[in-house]
Amino acid sequence: MRHLSLIPFAGMMLLSSAEAVDYKEEIRPILNKKCFKCHTGPKAKGGLRMDSADDFAKRIGGDDPLIIPGDPGKSILSIKAGLPASDGEAMPPPPARERGAEPMTAAELTLVRQWITEGAKLEPGDTTAAPSAPAPGAAPMVAELHDWSNTGGGSLKASFVAMNGANVTLRKEDGTQFDYPLVNLSAESQALAKKLAGQ
Ligand code: HEC
Repeated sequence: MRHLSLIPFAGMMLLSSAEAVDYKEEIRPILNKKCFKCHTGPKAKGGLRMDSADDFAKRIGGDDPLIIPGDPGKSILSIKAGLPASDGEAMPPPPARERGAEPMTAAELTLVRQWITEGAKLEPGDTTAAPSAPAPGAAPMVAELHDWSNTGGGSLKASFVAMNGANVTLRKEDGTQFDYPLVNLSAESQALAKKLAGQ
């Protein structure tokens, strides 16, 4: 099996818009992968600690906001994350990009912007932007990842979300969720989807 052709999957990628974006499941993994390297712990760059829910919440709305709930176009965090490497204000900073720090993909940025549009809640149902800190030592919830392959020989790691008519809804490790036609999956993956759906 070839492990390079993600294009047939990527081409089908659709963000599910019916459900609100979930911070822990969808946004935190993106920040973790693209931003935590420099924005965690007491020495966080720019004083921006994304790993501590309390610290991060202070920069959502309030006096000195990096995120303005409802307005990704005015939120410094989403603006910086969307700037091209040619812009000195971009995040990750351009020199770090030259050393391999990757910016958010367009799909990741879209999801982050959608989360901000929806109010930048750190907890489901949270309306105050003042979430409680996670329980000490609590392990992040990670859905089980499976290997999926399609008829074109492409493969992808993703967790199963649901069967959705003739499509299967999958979620990648970075939190992006998309529908994929069952018939385009390999026989093995079709069987896996049916099994996980309890069919
Ligand atoms: C390689 C290290 C590095 C990475 C990775 C990185 N940053 Fe930064 N970030 C910095 C530094 C250094 C500063 C402080 C200087 C500045 O503001 O330009 C900063 C500052 C910021 C600020 C401004 C903080 C303030 O109080 O004004 C924001 C917002 C920000 N980063 C967002 C992000 C986001 C979003 C990501 C992930 C896409 C990210 N950063 C990834 C190094 C990094």
